[in-house]
Amino acid sequence: MYNRLSLIFSLIFIGCLAGSRVVAQETYQDFTPGKIWKDNNGIHINAHGGGIVYSKGLYYWFGEHKIEGEKGNTAQLGVHCYSSKDLYNWKDEGIALSVSEDLKSDIAKGCILERPKVVYNKKTKKFVMWFHLELLGKGYAAARAGVAIADKATGPYTFIKSYRPNAGIMPFYAVGTPDAEKVNCEKPANKSDGFFCRDLPGGQMARDMTVFVDDDGKAYHIFSSEENFTLHLAELTPDYLSHTGKFIRIYVGQQTEAPALFKKDGIYYMIGSGCTGWAPNPARWFKAKSIFGPWEFMGNPCVGPGSDKTFGGQSTYVLPAPGKKGSFIFMADKWVPKNAIDGRYLWLPIQFEDDKLKIEWSDKWNLSFFK
Ligand code: DGJ
Repeated sequence: MYNRLSLIFSLIFIGCLAGSRVVAQETYQDFTPGKIWKDNNGIHINAHGGGIVYSKGLYYWFGEHKIEGEKGNTAQLGVHCYSSKDLYNWKDEGIALSVSEDLKSDIAKGCILERPKVVYNKKTKKFVMWFHLELLGKGYAAARAGVAIADKATGPYTFIKSYRPNAGIMPFYAVGTPDAEKVNCEKPANKSDGFFCRDLPGGQMARDMTVFVDDDGKAYHIFSSEENFTLHLAELTPDYLSHTGKFIRIYVGQQTEAPALFKKDGIYYMIGSGCTGWAPNPARWFKAKSIFGPWEFMGNPCVGPGSDKTFGGQSTYVLPAPGKKGSFIFMADKWVPKNAIDGRYLWLPIQFEDDKLKIEWSDKWNLSFFK
């Protein structure tokens, strides 16, 4: 009898141990770029093409929720949100913006909804989410910007509208811009100018994108336009929900995607990529003294093995890091188009050398890098 009881207790004990091993989620103390990155439930984080907003002691990571297989690159659920105190360990906060079951909705289930970025508007006290939207069944033809709003960081976000920005409006040019650099729709000088003029009446194409809030609280929407040939940087209205009509064109005709903007010591920096679908290509960076340019092309910020392909990734966001002022994390996606949910995250520290950006590969690193 005694033996049988002790056997039962031993089995229960071993069972509990095994169970707790399954439930207990490892705590991360480092970033391991390209490896599976589990959330508090032990599931690989599902927030691709993402961005981060900081609010009241927590970081919120928003990104595309992908599913298994090639269909996974379409929006079957919406925008996923995670929260974290330390940037290593992330809690699943669920779907912040849901796609609609109504097939007539702009954000109908199965549409393409990419690169969501959330910013907080101090004046309206609202969280505002912008994203690249492609209407259901239309491939990448719609090229619209979508916007949604929420009272809480985690949402739920309410979809407001989607459109092509700046219809009927010509770009802003800094004083002294030579006429030869200005787009002339009577006689477009190149392919990209031609696309700009074609789209002038209905609004400019808006694909890969980010949103940047400057120190004065003004927000800017930066997006690949003109059939991905040229970037636009466009001012948003004080409520961050529309475009004011003031915008510039950057690196005309050079096909820049995946823009990520940040500011350090009064200088604006932008990292982007070339345009090769889901396949990686060399990153590129730019700098400017004024947000409205001129933006100077500076080459590839990545160095070392793999730098010619951004280490297999594509930029999505640059995050001001905790620690020493002026520390920034480069966030990139390593896409897996055949099984989208398996996409990986490459987070790497940005280094500054004589005002030049440098991004090096690291298998494992942590925030002590910035001390
Ligand atoms: C590259 C973009 O950066 C991604 O966001 C996505 O739009 C793919 N192209 C689609 O091919």
